[in-house]
Amino acid sequence: MEDNNNDNNVCVIGLGYVGLTLAGYMAKHGLLVEGIEINPQVHAALAEGRAHFHEFGFDEVVQEVTRNGSLTASYALQPRDFNRIYIITVGTNINDVGAVNLEPIRQVSAGIAEAMRDGDMILLRSTVKLGVTRDVVKPILDQSGKRYDLAFCPERTLEGRALEELASLPQVVGGIDEHSAQRAKRLFERLTKEVVVVDSVEEAEMVKLVNNTDRDVMFAYANEVAMLCEVAGISSRNVIRAVNHNYPRSSVRFPGPVGGPCLGKDGYILAEGFADKPVHADIMITARRRNEELVNFTTRSVLEKAKARGLFARSTKVSVLGTAFKGRPETSDLRGSMVYQLLDAVRLFDPGLDIRVFDPVARRDEMEADGMVVEATLEAALKDAAVVFIQTNHINFENLNWSKYSHMLCEQAIVYDYWDNQRLGVYANSVAVTSLGNSAL
Ligand SMILES: NC(=O)c1ccc[n+]([C@@H]2O[C@H](COP(=O)([O-])OP(=O)(O)OC[C@H]3O[C@@H](n4cnc5c(N)ncnc54)[C@H](O)[C@@H]3O)[C@@H](O)[C@H]2O)c1
Repeated sequence: MEDNNNDNNVCVIGLGYVGLTLAGYMAKHGLLVEGIEINPQVHAALAEGRAHFHEFGFDEVVQEVTRNGSLTASYALQPRDFNRIYIITVGTNINDVGAVNLEPIRQVSAGIAEAMRDGDMILLRSTVKLGVTRDVVKPILDQSGKRYDLAFCPERTLEGRALEELASLPQVVGGIDEHSAQRAKRLFERLTKEVVVVDSVEEAEMVKLVNNTDRDVMFAYANEVAMLCEVAGISSRNVIRAVNHNYPRSSVRFPGPVGGPCLGKDGYILAEGFADKPVHADIMITARRRNEELVNFTTRSVLEKAKARGLFARSTKVSVLGTAFKGRPETSDLRGSMVYQLLDAVRLFDPGLDIRVFDPVARRDEMEADGMVVEATLEAALKDAAVVFIQTNHINFENLNWSKYSHMLCEQAIVYDYWDNQRLGVYANSVAVTSLGNSAL
């Protein structure tokens, strides 16, 4: 296919965490970007020169590129009289049985098929199960009868460091053919230092899934060690420290809640792609379930100990510090957060418990929309609480001054830190501060 332009015009469809950061970054790096987004809240935030989510250093970029016109946003795709690159970044959520909803990708592909011109390029960047680029997107584009290039280029940035990582991480590119791969490679070479071209769209799809399931499995292993040590009455932190100490063949992670918009679902997406194949993703699915169980298991065990101390006769308040899916780098993103498992486990243990949450950056309206009772300050969350769970390792929750705070809590309260960031011990008011994997209560 002849290249008849310099690929300066890009259309990003789906301005969520991935699409908007990529669109802003590309606009900042000299491309003319039109974003397509159906959610009015995203447009309202952009009109104010900011993103609708918290991402370090990103609002300044949004302000600059929306003001100078290098990033514009529309509600719907329109045909243009110039060639461009379409990048699909809509969500790929899973349902209750772990099956991915491909409808947004189908709809957007059909919209592109209608709007595109001969010679355009389509890049799929949403995380998909194996085969979606070739078996779902390509047949829809083919129906248009137009000539086009097609590649899969996974998004691998870390929320909270997206801008930094868009510049520093290698971009992986897999084309439907060599021409597509090379054209996608040229685009990303304008944005980052290193582009890795793999042999097919399937290899590129698999790269994203393997990156994320690798992390999930690694953390699940640590969480399983923690759960085994807990029932054995020994400290998994001591065990893991000794395992790793000057021993070059082990690097076991420390345990903790593992979730989020990617790790919470990508194992299921990977597994679904192999459901009809002779080999299944058994390790990945078992790991995901282990990570989900950790929170139920520990929450129940802490609440049982609190009940045995007679704590709930004095106060029914249970507070959760940190609702986002992670604390570092900080994010306001609640999607896939293990806080939901934690809250469910508390409700299941005793529906009469009065559950409060506090998070330094998550949005109050989003937390409330999910049925959480939100406290405005750390102090308000701690006041009279019988049990406190520290769910994220946000910097505001590191090394809290329990000599000061223990007086605010209910007598004999339990503070349970999933991240081991506290000075553990028994404080005034007989408040016990402990952590996952450190010591049995
Ligand atoms: N969040 C991350 O850190 C991350 C990292 C790597 C990969 N991914 C993957 O990237 C994809 C997008 O993730 P996200 O976190 O940005 O999701 P998101 O839900 O934040 O964003 C998707 C956006 O697409 C919009 N949208 C849906 N249908 C549309 C349509 N027909 N036209 C225009 N806009 C439409 C939605 O309104 C939403 O704003 C997913 O497949 C995800 O797994 C996410």
